[in-house]
Amino acid sequence: MAMGQVQPKLIIHGGAGSSLRSKGGVEAVRRSLHAVVEAVYPELVTGAAASTVVVQACQLLEDDPRFNSGTGSVLQSDGQIRMSASLMEGMAQRFSGVINVSRVKNPIFLAQFLQDSHDRILSDYGSIELLRELGIPSYDPLTELRLQEWIQERRGNFEHEMAGVVAEKELVADASAGRGTIGVVVLDSEGRLAAGTSTGGKGFERIGRVSDSAMPAGNYATAYAGVSCTGIGEDIIDECLAARIVVRVTDGMAIEQAFQRSFQEADQHNRDFGQSGLTTPGDRWANIGLAC
Ligand code: GLY
Repeated sequence: MAMGQVQPKLIIHGGAGSSLRSKGGVEAVRRSLHAVVEAVYPELVTGAAASTVVVQACQLLEDDPRFNSGTGSVLQSDGQIRMSASLMEGMAQRFSGVINVSRVKNPIFLAQFLQDSHDRILSDYGSIELLRELGIPSYDPLTELRLQEWIQERRGNFEHEMAGVVAEKELVADASAGRGTIGVVVLDSEGRLAAGTSTGGKGFERIGRVSDSAMPAGNYATAYAGVSCTGIGEDIIDECLAARIVVRVTDGMAIEQAFQRSFQEADQHNRDFGQSGLTTPGDRWANIGLAC
């Protein structure tokens, strides 16, 4: 590593779902996550920018049907998939994202494109328009597992408020906990931070429900810290979690304390989420999860 360069760091998560009960489940998820780290970390070492690596890692996670984002996204109450994703550039402190986009393979690519646009957050109609403009081919992210989960839930007249977001293809959903999201936070060798988050939402939700993943509550970064959240979007939004932690660190609090304090506050409100965060300089980092 050259003098003055920062040791690059990468944190990824595949959601705080309920499927990690069996050892096989944990191992399968670890293998998937590890493959992503192995694929993108060398890029970071050779000097790739934080936001580029965030997008690459998010894309790989979106393409893995194990996770609730891109391919493998959960279905909403009407049987449709609507995905949300965002990218936050820490140095420029610039947020971009798409909300409730359908028929696209990688929502994170749209978020990346919008970084340089005057209009940086698009909802469903605008996203479809953008897909057309960019000539991105239509793609169906539905998987058999997600379809079966939805059919099963429909038979029960949607007694659950959200899908149990499984990270194992072979497991049928445990509908007690739908918390899936994927997220990536990167500190590159120039000391730049970026955060990306992508999700299919809670599953079985009302048409038009908006996820935290394309809000600063769920994905936020400055030049000093970056955080990606996973969990129940409403809880994350109520705590404005990612922005709250990042602002605390930006104002001088150590990231460990910022996480701790924010979790304590969230605990008082019985919130249900987890998050990953990175801070500069590169020798300090935290990756803490919570399910309360
Ligand atoms: N955190 C993902 C969602 O609630 O939509």
